[in-house]
Amino acid sequence: MYICLEGIDGSGKSTQIELLEKWLITIGYNPLKISEPTGSEVGELIRKMLRSPHASETNFQITLALLFAADRMFLMDKIQKAESEGKIVISDRCFYSSIVYQNDDEWISQLNKHAKIPDLTILLDLEIDTALERCEGTDHFENKVFLEKIRKKYLKLAENEGFQVLNAENGVNKTHQDIKRIISPKLSLCI
Ligand code: TYD
Repeated sequence: MYICLEGIDGSGKSTQIELLEKWLITIGYNPLKISEPTGSEVGELIRKMLRSPHASETNFQITLALLFAADRMFLMDKIQKAESEGKIVISDRCFYSSIVYQNDDEWISQLNKHAKIPDLTILLDLEIDTALERCEGTDHFENKVFLEKIRKKYLKLAENEGFQVLNAENGVNKTHQDIKRIISPKLSLCI
């Protein structure tokens, strides 16, 4: 099973992925935790480029889309191997982030046609003001208008693709409980 957490920056994905990993281990699973951008050389290049003052420009975003798609391919064998060993793969972002952030749905989908589609995607949704409070000043092209646009795109994509949408406003613990509540039936667990 391949589970992905999506959401705008400041939505708490990284914290929730860690809690999810710990919980899965506690109940006897051996999960594989991955994240995008990855730690590959392409991923490192992406992180560097995201800090550029040109990061929001159209052609720059097209370049980033290509790099994100390339970076993602490093994960595909890992995911396949883990799944064949019966592991649960949990991911902080996937190609859905490219659709939302890089903004040319059809082309991005084509570009990522070899990327595996998660079996379950959970969107951590929250007000932009809360997200900005949580990660103030950490990322360059994230301002309110931009994040509002990204949030809207996420919610639309969630509807089209059948994501589980969680209200991530109510603190770390509540969100973790909600994630467990969504995943448990998929593992035939009662919590
Ligand atoms: P983020 O989840 O913040 O990673 P980290 O916590 O390691 O810095 O992701 C970095 C940024 O990359 C974030 O602003 C979203 C963006 N991004 C895209 O624009 N497209 C993509 O395909 C992915 C995976 C991320």
